[in-house]
Amino acid sequence: MASKEGRLQGMRQNTKVFDAYVELRLDRGMALSTQPYKGTRDFYPEDMRIQRWMFNRMREVVERYGYREYDGPMLEPFELYAAKTGEEIVNQQLYWLMDRGERKLAIRPEMTPTLARMVAAKFHELPRPVRWFSTPNLWRYERPQRGRLREHWQLNVDVLGGDPLLADAEILSLALDVLRGFGGEKHVSIRVNNRRLMDHLFREKMGLNAETALQVTKALDARAKVGEEAYAKWLGDLGVDSQKRDVMERFFQSGFEETAKNLPCEGVTELRSLFELLEQSGAAGSVQFDPTVLRGLDYYTGTVFEMYDTSPDNRRAIFGGGRYDNLLALFGNYKLSGVGFGMGDVTLRNFLETHQLLPSFGSAVDVFVSLPRPELRLHAEKVAQSCRSLGLRVITPLSSEGFGAQLKQASKHGARFAVLFGDTEIAQGQAMLKDLSTGEQVTVGLAELAPRIHQVIKGT
Ligand code: HAM
Repeated sequence: MASKEGRLQGMRQNTKVFDAYVELRLDRGMALSTQPYKGTRDFYPEDMRIQRWMFNRMREVVERYGYREYDGPMLEPFELYAAKTGEEIVNQQLYWLMDRGERKLAIRPEMTPTLARMVAAKFHELPRPVRWFSTPNLWRYERPQRGRLREHWQLNVDVLGGDPLLADAEILSLALDVLRGFGGEKHVSIRVNNRRLMDHLFREKMGLNAETALQVTKALDARAKVGEEAYAKWLGDLGVDSQKRDVMERFFQSGFEETAKNLPCEGVTELRSLFELLEQSGAAGSVQFDPTVLRGLDYYTGTVFEMYDTSPDNRRAIFGGGRYDNLLALFGNYKLSGVGFGMGDVTLRNFLETHQLLPSFGSAVDVFVSLPRPELRLHAEKVAQSCRSLGLRVITPLSSEGFGAQLKQASKHGARFAVLFGDTEIAQGQAMLKDLSTGEQVTVGLAELAPRIHQVIKGT
């Protein structure tokens, strides 16, 4: 084993090597980029405040419905997504890696498979219906654009078990309530369809086999993204002739009653019952039948839905989701149907900004306690603590500068109040309290100081 002196010498040597390396890079104009990886975001404190505010709001609403929070790992076995998540995500968007033990792992692109795995693992223990929510960060290798990034956060809300239609209605009402929590319910519409209805169209009316039906679903889901020409070629390659395409186009142009008449099936019956339930809960005004909503994920089997902003500025869905009957079967003989949605932070923030629904957050700091001389630090800290004990956000300077510089620091940090004192104030058990928003200054007894600030800031 190397001696202590030897180790220290080694460390010094390493530091020198590192310094020389950094210098060389700088000399060659090779300083590291300060930009985050493409399609990801740095959350500076101002962004973090918005992000936290959005998720706290959502959490409040979801918890009011009795949903409980869960989470899982960022890395999952690759196979978890290979079977049901859908070709586009698995083949084109999944971030994956081999670990040192040669296990193929994926960085989660969505939460639903993890949820299904966790519920299956405790299948016989969990009280039903399972009402859970989560707020994971997810990774998809996408071309970054408005509403689409490579890393995003998602509120996931799911219910497994219970009467499927009651659960579908609860999930949609809850989702609308989340938007109501932001004051945005008037600017959205929820478009609903049913996979069983689509299956009926593809299989019975168009005579497609199960595999072609699945491929047509994908082509339709990607239609807006790939454009009409590529879409037409895609269908042609799948052997969907113009007659069948006409059947489909007629279907897409039909309202619900016309569809119900032309295509009576289980999917239509489910949709009708769901619309009735939503009528009763008062959510029906924001919900409409849209036969073009298909959803790209393979596991959906019944109701599917997406919520859209009514403003043309935001074309991406604010959330998407649906019912999955067979997802737990990936893990064994577990039969439990679920329904849920994922609401992304990127699209939600765009929505809130477009409709000016983000509040002004005010200052991040309530009080700045000045430090006129280093010897007075203990006194300054005591004052700061008395304010903190009432829940106020307080900063003290980490160096003692002149009076003017300290006040400038207080303003730069956005403090609402500055507490100032010198020997005279200390001798008299007082401090000067300056309201930085008005410039008003008063002398206050120390015992009274924190409650007084608290009263102004918290209004109590
Ligand atoms: P999804 O439609 O893939 O569904 O994503 C749901 C929402 O996440 C989208 O509507 C959008 O707001 C957001 N989102 C998705 N990808 C991105 C991206 N690349 N950048 C920014 N935002 C994005 C699911 O993930 C399902 N697992 C949801 C679900 C839960 N279904 C049942 N339970």
